[in-house]
Amino acid sequence: MTSGALTAQHWQGRNVLVTGADGFIGSHLVEALVDAGANVRALVLYNSFNSWGWLDHSDAAAHIDVVSGDVRDPFLCQNICQNIDTVFHLAALIAIPYSYIAPNSYVETNVNGTLNMVQAAKDQGVRRFMHTSTSETYGTAQRVPIDEAHPMQPQSPYSASKIGADAMAMSYYHAFGFPVTIARPFNTYGPRQSARAVIPTIISQIASGMTHIQLGDTSPTRDFNYVSDTCQGMMALMGTDRTIGESVNISSNFEVSIQDTLNTIKRLMKSNVEFVQDPQRLRPKDSEVFRLWGDNQKLIELTGYQPQTSLEAGLQQTIDWFTQPDNLARYKAEQYNV
Ligand SMILES: NC(=O)c1ccc[n+]([C@@H]2O[C@H](COP(=O)([O-])OP(=O)(O)OC[C@H]3O[C@@H](n4cnc5c(N)ncnc54)[C@H](O)[C@@H]3O)[C@@H](O)[C@H]2O)c1
Repeated sequence: MTSGALTAQHWQGRNVLVTGADGFIGSHLVEALVDAGANVRALVLYNSFNSWGWLDHSDAAAHIDVVSGDVRDPFLCQNICQNIDTVFHLAALIAIPYSYIAPNSYVETNVNGTLNMVQAAKDQGVRRFMHTSTSETYGTAQRVPIDEAHPMQPQSPYSASKIGADAMAMSYYHAFGFPVTIARPFNTYGPRQSARAVIPTIISQIASGMTHIQLGDTSPTRDFNYVSDTCQGMMALMGTDRTIGESVNISSNFEVSIQDTLNTIKRLMKSNVEFVQDPQRLRPKDSEVFRLWGDNQKLIELTGYQPQTSLEAGLQQTIDWFTQPDNLARYKAEQYNV
């Protein structure tokens, strides 16, 4: 049996809660869990427009229980954790540039929100809890590939808030024996990603017909992961007890520069667009994370799961999605999205 089939068997009929379900990765994770037969409760961020984010555009929405709320509210967290077997906690503020100008909201959402969720999950008798970290917690690689023992370096308030959130979640394992697992994805890309991230920025600008595209520094390297691989990695982590009390990278185990990624996208989109450096997109020197390349041995050893999608195949699927006019219309390609 493949690890995918084992995962599907595990989720059949299970009650799961996904926070951040309105977002990029969360909406794909909801769909994968519904496909695997889970009963999904989806937390979307409360707003006055009654928007469910990407779940408004997903067929899965008809098969799940959508709750609007906010992880900053501990009472709401207690309510949504009732009768839940497994929590996937993805809700977070994630943009690095916005964390320079609104750092307190990152502490409120990422640190306090995680505290509220892990406390509520423990109180309500949840069986397993996954907290979502990020490769940004490692900062610029001191050695490669980056394994889970690599030091944490808070090079942005976002990274600092995630380091705090990770520690808060894991303290519940150490202090109370609560079965926490930390998933640490490296850069994830695919349909629905915000144009704050570099791959959607490049594709949406080219798809909008711009002849000169604006980017920040193109020299840093990243370990890119197609969104379905990140979601399957999360489900694999929560499909075995071997990951309890562990922090585990979800990565492809290779690095590529932004410049080379741009060149591949240009080739796939048959574009000869020129790249212009936009100074407002440059990060302060000591804040820029210059190198990320994640070791995925621990994920493979503990779960048997490894990524399935090559960068070129994933980029092609992302391009196919972004170039559909209805999808592209949801992006403001001409603007710098903080
Ligand atoms: N995208 C990546 O490359 C990447 C890489 C590593 C880790 N992650 C982590 O994965 C998770 C999902 O990221 P994403 O890329 O899908 O981002 P996203 O911004 O699309 O999704 C995050 C969601 O959290 C929701 N949210 C924000 N504040 C909230 C609050 N107070 N209460 C309830 N919900 C709230 C937002 O509405 C949003 O839809 C995050 O925890 C992020 O740190 C993402």
